[in-house]
Amino acid sequence: MSKNQAIPQKVEQLRKTLNDHNHCYYVLDEPSIPDAEYDRLFRELQSLEAEHPELITVASPTQRVGGMPAKEFSQVQHRVPMLSLANAFSEEDLQAFNKRVQDRLNYSEDIAYVCEPKLDGLAVSILYEEGKFVLAATRGDGATGEDITQNIRTIKSVPLQLRGNDYPKSLEVRGEVFMPKAGFDNLNATARAQDEKEFANPRNAAAGSLRQLNPQITASRPLEVFFYAVGYVADGDLPDNHFALLEKFHGWGLRTCPEIVLANNVEGCMRFYSSIQDKRNALPYEIDGVVYKVNKFTWQRKLGFVSRAPRWAIAHKFPAQEELTTLLAVEFQVGRTGALTPVARLEPVAVGGVTVSNATLHNMDEIARKDVRVTDTVIIRRAGDVIPEVVSVIKERRPQNTKIITLPTHCPVCESVVVKHDDEAVARCSGGLYCPAQRKEAIKHFSARKAFDIEGLGDKLVEQLVDSGLIHDVADIFHLTAEQVSNLERMGDKSAENLLVSIEKAKQTTLARFLYALGIREVGEATAKTLAEKLGCIEKIKRADEALLQSLPDIGPVVAENIVIFFQQAHNCDVINKLLDAGINWPVIEVKAAEDLPLIGQTVVLTGSMEALTRDQAKEQLQALGAKVSGSVSKKTSYVIAGSEAGSKLAKAEKLGVAVHNEAWLLELLGEK
Ligand code: IVH
Repeated sequence: MSKNQAIPQKVEQLRKTLNDHNHCYYVLDEPSIPDAEYDRLFRELQSLEAEHPELITVASPTQRVGGMPAKEFSQVQHRVPMLSLANAFSEEDLQAFNKRVQDRLNYSEDIAYVCEPKLDGLAVSILYEEGKFVLAATRGDGATGEDITQNIRTIKSVPLQLRGNDYPKSLEVRGEVFMPKAGFDNLNATARAQDEKEFANPRNAAAGSLRQLNPQITASRPLEVFFYAVGYVADGDLPDNHFALLEKFHGWGLRTCPEIVLANNVEGCMRFYSSIQDKRNALPYEIDGVVYKVNKFTWQRKLGFVSRAPRWAIAHKFPAQEELTTLLAVEFQVGRTGALTPVARLEPVAVGGVTVSNATLHNMDEIARKDVRVTDTVIIRRAGDVIPEVVSVIKERRPQNTKIITLPTHCPVCESVVVKHDDEAVARCSGGLYCPAQRKEAIKHFSARKAFDIEGLGDKLVEQLVDSGLIHDVADIFHLTAEQVSNLERMGDKSAENLLVSIEKAKQTTLARFLYALGIREVGEATAKTLAEKLGCIEKIKRADEALLQSLPDIGPVVAENIVIFFQQAHNCDVINKLLDAGINWPVIEVKAAEDLPLIGQTVVLTGSMEALTRDQAKEQLQALGAKVSGSVSKKTSYVIAGSEAGSKLAKAEKLGVAVHNEAWLLELLGEK
């Protein structure tokens, strides 16, 4: 066989391999090869096709994004109308639906239903002729939609060629195109960074992405699909029930939602509803309810349709998560670090079954971007256990004389000056611990579960204690008397006594908890633990300079600076001394003495592969000797340790004149040779 004869086969082989990998990656969610290998095969196919354009076919994986932007979408007549669904909002509605189904079928036993999440995206119809993707359309008015073939082609989970060989010759499948939550967040973050308009929700983002006349834009959007129905079918057999059809879909490479179950009866439907509702926030895509479909196709046909919705299916909606209401006023709340958060006071409204009268507006930049004003009609969203937020304003309903929201110049609690840096979204009260609001938050943080864990000292009590002047700083907690506490409103002798017992108990803590409780900016649990383990005692931590702090794992320049500044403040050191005097104590930590930390202050970069150690082992051991292990080479790098096949980092080290050592040198240093 001559070399040229082999090329068409080679091209076919590459396409098949790429399609198989695509199927694993996008449909089965189980990547079969590393991305780099996929890219290599893809480029190989691209270059063969460039040399032999006559071999290009529309179904080639290289041809997802093609053609010029269109001037407009042409119309597509649906051969089988695309219907909508009737809604149920309660268990009674669902029972009534089941009863109607039973009555029409004249069947009083259990009816089996397929239970599917109701995806919050857009319905699409896709036609496969002889297994090849040929046409895609929107739902439109149900009878006529728009031709969005070029856009749908760009969605990687839509196969351009069906798998297997038992699909009907003409097969129109229907499903939902949606944007996963993570993709939506990224898209909006990019829009924000470029000062562009953000999408209100993933559904709008998906709709906006499909409405693009330029398929290049659609291709750049993170769209996905789940298939859930058939439309027009010719020359081929389908199973006799919906659940089996979905299994067929899977075999043909058409992605189906993994949450779908077959319920034996309406009770099973209710169980599905509750379990999906519990899972809702954890799902990677938005859903707004569930859909139940009579499983047997003979029954579906018997039931038929009424006013453009099937009698054999119903959507059981979740309570709405978004509602309209009026913004009555905006107040500013002061947090632990002094950050001022604008909070919307609202005309109370029920959102998803809970009455909401406050919602966050995040910060001044958000207010400006959304152009929110007092007296506006606003959309409120409450998603799961997240704080309700103001999503947007209905500009059409804006009354005259709305009030523009301005940042107060002085703290609403302590009247200290409010400071806002241009490069930061947040404005802060400059009052520090002079500000009662900051003090209250600092004390709440101090007594919280992950910090001193003082049982019984909740938010309300902290506020009472600060307001009544009984405590001024965190150390005062340890000087409270039973008498003082029992005189507070809603506090009896017994609860006062219990509180004092838990305060006494809390004196015995750990250094990590103590550090975390101090509330140093950006020192969370993990950083507090690192400081405790690596430096071992509060005196060392107080004295540590930025270089030493930065040599510790995962402490960067910002956190290091925050720590140093915190301990430079005399009032912070006073509080620490007061706490220690009050009897706060923790078990002594064994830390290697400085002479056992020969690499303290040094920054090391590891590159290439080692023989005796894994990268992680080498990193851990270097850190144990005090070194900071960094991922990139800079002028600050003390030295690079290069294993075999070291690449760009080695080159960079050589360019910058940073010392380079080999694995043997490292082993000697670690004392293992
Ligand atoms: S079946 C004849 N299944 O809901 C039944 N629709 O309110 C046609 N939808 O236009 C639809 N998830 O966009 C079906 N699992 C699902 C669905 C679903 C979301 C959408 C679809 C449809 C709308 C009807």
